[in-house]
Amino acid sequence: MNEDLRKFINDLYEDGRKFDAAEPQWARRRRNIDPPVGEFLWIFLKALKAKSVVEIGTSNGYSTLWLADAVRANSGTVVSVDYDKAWLGQAQANLSEAGLLDSVDLKCIEGGAFLESLADQSVDFMFFDAERSDYASWWPHPKRVLRIGGVIAVDNSTSHPDEIADLYRQINDDGGFSSVVVPVGKGELIAVKNGSL
Ligand SMILES: C[S@@+](CC[C@H](N)C(=O)[O-])C[C@H]1O[C@@H](n2cnc3c(N)ncnc32)[C@H](O)[C@@H]1O
Repeated sequence: MNEDLRKFINDLYEDGRKFDAAEPQWARRRRNIDPPVGEFLWIFLKALKAKSVVEIGTSNGYSTLWLADAVRANSGTVVSVDYDKAWLGQAQANLSEAGLLDSVDLKCIEGGAFLESLADQSVDFMFFDAERSDYASWWPHPKRVLRIGGVIAVDNSTSHPDEIADLYRQINDDGGFSSVVVPVGKGELIAVKNGSL
């Protein structure tokens, strides 16, 4: 990552921390991922040579910046979805200022409806950072749209394990995945879709 982008990302995170601390309404907080999670996802996408990435829960685009910079080298695209248009406006401004908008497609749609619209095995990597109680209702689309060898990452897996428990159960009961919870930031559930390539 180049120095200018790293500075932009660091400044945006610090600004978000202060903003959230002063904002009484939870839904209006940016609730950005922790920077080590950004680093982790960035390296993961590079190693996976991911081209087709889906993010559910854009907020102001902080996590999207990490994902977009990683897929840019692979000529890939991040489709980042949020059901709140105001957040997408902020994300667009941040991605544009960082020079990463060309690698991102921002969509205003509910996460489950978006997953349902995708073709089978069309996604290399998906990142869930939305309303956690919604995740379980999206099944089986996360599995259906992920290619073999593709990965699902779910934030807040150690901070709010109860709220992602139903999704975790679906992933494990399905039998088609190998999974682990990585203790970085608020905890990332990582699940890879097994099968022969
Ligand atoms: C925790 S914030 C995302 C933070 C962002 N990933 C980051 O690290 O910068 C959650 C976002 O998900 C959106 N959201 C929540 N549930 C959603 C759903 N079911 N479909 C689409 N967006 C959703 C909210 O509007 C909010 O902007």
